[in-house]
Amino acid sequence: MDQLCQAALDVRLRAHAPFSKFLVGAAIEDDQGRIHTGCNVENATYGLTVCAERVAVFKAISEGARKFRRIAVAADAPKLTPPCGACRQILWEFCGDVEITLVNLQGRTETLKLKDLFPRPFDDTFLG
Ligand code: THU
Repeated sequence: MDQLCQAALDVRLRAHAPFSKFLVGAAIEDDQGRIHTGCNVENATYGLTVCAERVAVFKAISEGARKFRRIAVAADAPKLTPPCGACRQILWEFCGDVEITLVNLQGRTETLKLKDLFPRPFDDTFLG
């Protein structure tokens, strides 16, 4: 198992998901080869829930990382779980057209580029 996928699978077990019971882990590798991880953290309001991908990105940013090579997202589902729309926006802003590997508990993986999931992003180039 690829180290980044394994990190995403491991951190998934730390998810705080009492409402959905859907545990997700994410791991992001920076340009120094460091791995930053995140799990989903749910909230009783539901709407304040933060996905695993955003937790991983924000943790990485707060550790000083600024450039990223790839990200892995782990969930327990036969249908591999892609990042939600909000996470795609955040990933685009901080990682650009990053490589994303989706993995499940059976070790099934699929690797794609963010541009394939998020083909016409809004970003700072529109802000003049
Ligand atoms: N979730 C993630 O953490 N990442 C995804 O890619 C999809 C959804 C979380 C949010 C919520 O805690 C639960 O999964 C169900 O939507």
